[in-house]
Amino acid sequence: KTAATSPSSWSSGTAGDRRSKIGIVGAGAVGSSLAYFCQIRGIAREIAIYDVASEKVHAEAADLSHGAMFSPSTVVSGSDDVSVLAGADIVVITAGAKQKPGQPRLELAEANVNILRAMTPKLLEVAPDAVYVLVTNPCDVLTSVFRELSGLPKERVMSSGTVLDTSRLRLRLSEEAGVSPTSVHAMIVGEHGDTEFPLWSIANIGSVPLLEWRNGTGELAFPEDVRDTIADEVMHAAYSVIAGKGATNYAIGMAGGSICQAILSDQHAVMPVSTILEDYQGVSGVALSVPSVVGRAGVLHQLPVPMSDGEVQQLHKSADALRSSLSTLGF
Ligand code: LAC
Repeated sequence: KTAATSPSSWSSGTAGDRRSKIGIVGAGAVGSSLAYFCQIRGIAREIAIYDVASEKVHAEAADLSHGAMFSPSTVVSGSDDVSVLAGADIVVITAGAKQKPGQPRLELAEANVNILRAMTPKLLEVAPDAVYVLVTNPCDVLTSVFRELSGLPKERVMSSGTVLDTSRLRLRLSEEAGVSPTSVHAMIVGEHGDTEFPLWSIANIGSVPLLEWRNGTGELAFPEDVRDTIADEVMHAAYSVIAGKGATNYAIGMAGGSICQAILSDQHAVMPVSTILEDYQGVSGVALSVPSVVGRAGVLHQLPVPMSDGEVQQLHKSADALRSSLSTLGF
């Protein structure tokens, strides 16, 4: 029986930039979906997955590697030894308890902060220079906690925040307006959770202000009641997927992978990632999603987008919800 060739021993040619490496903590549905997205998009030359479940992580890495002929060359490895992440340019943290049906994300805080607390020193030892992307929920709370535990510069600690929620919003708006989601410019901001909200005041569809968009009969397509319904559908989208299949994984994997692509390709893409804000519309010291420029160094800066008084109030409501969760945890 010939020894299985370890993926990392191949000279597989290069994908992504230079010798870019994405480390993923967690070989569960989210981590493996993110790895899959990055592999088929050729986002990095190397993807390394770390999980304490040895058989699982080796199997996920092997299963992904077996797609070698169908995807841009990517060296995929997996191990229950955290050193597999050594030298990663980005580390995406997906491990932790996940929402049960109907469970708010903030209720996961204590369990997942404890996992993060145990993991942080080991991660910093093997990948001290990485940009860290928290996906595990509650991702905004964990961003604040990881920033404090790691002491890393704030631009290198972010979470996927409301990037996924923004995709859900653009999907719904595109369905109503009959245009491609890529032509819908609207964002969900604030907490990735029950207090998230759309920035309706600056949303536009193909450069037409959303609040002025008219349907085929000439009526305004997005009056307040329609906007409220769509916002509620977006905020509850994860709950309904979890009720049906037990978790969400594909779209969050794509959201996390898109953030990795923006970082590794130094795209300077505007994305609603969550980072610790400093005097943003009067909010300081808590991680929330606002439109931010993402590049190779991480979060380059937040954009001072105009907000209505109501939207500023909603941003502060998100901040209060997260501050209360953080203070309960002793942060
Ligand atoms: C969701 C999870 C990732 O919104 O919080 O699907």
